[in-house]
Amino acid sequence: MTISGSKNAALPLMAAALLADGPVTITNVPVLNDIFTFNKVIAETGTEVTYDRDQRELTIDPTQMDSYVAPYDLVRKMRASFYMTGALLGAAGYARVSLPGGCAWGPRPVNLHLEGFRALGAEIEMDGGYVIAKAPNGRLPGGSFTMTPSSVGATVNLVLAAVRAKGRSVIRNAAMEPDVVNLCENLNTLGARISGVGTPVLTIEGTDRIQPGTINNTPDRIETGTFMIAAALLPGSDVTLTNTLERDLGSFTDTFRKLNTGLEITDSTIRVRSADRIPPVSIQTAIYPGFPTDLQAQWATMMALADGKSTVTDHIYPDRFSYVPELVRLGADVERRDNMVVIKGPSVLKGASVMSTDLRASVSLVMAGLAAEGETEVLRVYHLDRGYETLEDKLNAVGAQIRRVSE
Ligand code: UD1
Repeated sequence: MTISGSKNAALPLMAAALLADGPVTITNVPVLNDIFTFNKVIAETGTEVTYDRDQRELTIDPTQMDSYVAPYDLVRKMRASFYMTGALLGAAGYARVSLPGGCAWGPRPVNLHLEGFRALGAEIEMDGGYVIAKAPNGRLPGGSFTMTPSSVGATVNLVLAAVRAKGRSVIRNAAMEPDVVNLCENLNTLGARISGVGTPVLTIEGTDRIQPGTINNTPDRIETGTFMIAAALLPGSDVTLTNTLERDLGSFTDTFRKLNTGLEITDSTIRVRSADRIPPVSIQTAIYPGFPTDLQAQWATMMALADGKSTVTDHIYPDRFSYVPELVRLGADVERRDNMVVIKGPSVLKGASVMSTDLRASVSLVMAGLAAEGETEVLRVYHLDRGYETLEDKLNAVGAQIRRVSE
């Protein structure tokens, strides 16, 4: 099973292309609705966007950019559109970007993004649900900002704003997620001067120019982790994931080893074989290299089948448990307590109709449906298409039986 390019790493690269003074081609960009949404957001600015779906290559040419607005209609569909603020501030010294609204997982503030922009020298105003960010005299001076807590999105936005600033910027307690590392490394190949990449302190010397060129997206670590869990929980499976990068999984691999499944890792492949018995393994989410919040729903689903009691605790998004009542409908014994769920396995899951509430919840319900006896109907699968490329084709190729009925 081939792992696609990362959604969450591609979006910052797409925003970064707006900083260049000519076309930037990004390789390994997955065919996903979130990518199409962001293409539209970028095209709104007069930037030329060309996507070769067969080659998975996206070319973004900002040479004709003549508008600096990201409208509510698009931003509300995908919060990462807020990356336009940093990109436009860096590229043009002006951005008018809709504030992202609520989220299915509870509050997701952008206070750190805004405080960070101010620390880099931007003037920030609110107007009718929009953030207006301006650089005095068209270019940010640069500055220092300490982030608490560490945020992937705020780090990306501040890097985008800082690379073309006049002076030096320092971001402390910066996110170290592979998505951020991939952004910084690629920007450096185009002439940015970012040091401390992969550490909590990023130092960015502003540069006049980001060159055109080709940059490379990284494999999707969350898709990799999702399919590792799927292979572990489905009896009799023996799945080899290709085009992946185990390095980006952080401590997830060590946690996964506790399942005692067969696990063989090379530079770009991971082979997983299901275990006869799934032991209960409790997890707590944390920033990279800790257990990713984007894999906790899938882990909880697997734990419903485990031989004993376990807990899943989310410290990053304490309300990210909308999947729990749906798992219960399938027969799982899962109880939520604040930012934790207690799972008593093993349950025999039985097919039912369930409702997707967000991207990772929906893939978890598909996995639960595969493990369940009888037929499971997962509704609102548009959530899946935001972040998993041809999910049913990939799973069907390794023995699943999934049909897309509508949408
Ligand atoms: C990104 C990912 C998302 C993942 C998350 C955590 C993308 C498009 N999305 O989201 O899939 O689940 O990282 O790995 O890459 N926070 C604040 N103030 C802010 C910003 C964040 O308090 O201004 C808090 C959040 O509420 C959360 C924590 O910081 O508790 C981390 O969030 P953050 O890393 O910003 O997540 P996103 O970038 O939104």
